[in-house]
Amino acid sequence: MSKLLYIQASPRGERSSSSDVANSYIEAFKAASNDNTVTTINVWDANLPEFDGERLNAKYSFLHGQNPSDEEAAAWQEIVSLADQFKAADCYLYSVPMWNFSIPYKLKHYIDVITQPGLTFGFDPETGFFGLVTGKPVTAIYSRGGEYNNPEAKGMDFQKPYLEMSLGFIGFRDINSVIIEPTLADPDTVGVAINTAKEQAAKLGANV
Ligand SMILES: Cc1cc2nc3c(=O)[nH]c(=O)nc-3n(C[C@H](O)[C@H](O)[C@H](O)COP(=O)(O)O)c2cc1C
Repeated sequence: MSKLLYIQASPRGERSSSSDVANSYIEAFKAASNDNTVTTINVWDANLPEFDGERLNAKYSFLHGQNPSDEEAAAWQEIVSLADQFKAADCYLYSVPMWNFSIPYKLKHYIDVITQPGLTFGFDPETGFFGLVTGKPVTAIYSRGGEYNNPEAKGMDFQKPYLEMSLGFIGFRDINSVIIEPTLADPDTVGVAINTAKEQAAKLGANV
């Protein structure tokens, strides 16, 4: 039995290419074992807490090794719940459209909420930061209107490198990716890109 947490970052519902390909992963994951379960968080529907005021003050208290005030501790509880929900999974799937060369701001909001000292990362004065979400596989499915696998455009891709860096920061080492591009091309080209990505996603989902 394996618990998959699916973080969906497109607001486009059934029109979303990244969600479409993620569904191939999920179908294969469910087919691999009747006991496998999927929890989905669409970051656009998640009603994420603002990360300001006492919540932000609590983060700095932890970073400075101080105890949070009662107000800070109360505000921090919602962050703890979301981080606990995140950490409860055995494996992870992200579907991520490229927005202005990076990730959609609601996914950044989710990352800002769950990436927290004492919850998903720690700090050792001698060795520095270390991740607390370890030993678990993650797959990220990236969709982009253009093409970034060439020397001219590679440096403009802040989507995949950013997500992989932020996952690595909280402890992930087994990071798989599926790229769908260019989704704004002619229908035949898009069809081939999506079918190829679905095959890759299904293979990964069947072998988590
Ligand atoms: C707000 C916004 C910004 C976008 N920015 C980019 C971009 O910088 N580069 C790119 O190649 N495509 C860009 N696109 C196109 C999407 O990445 C592309 O349509 C993708 O397939 C959307 O995935 P989805 O269907 O899963 O939502 C953008 C789309 C939107 C809505």
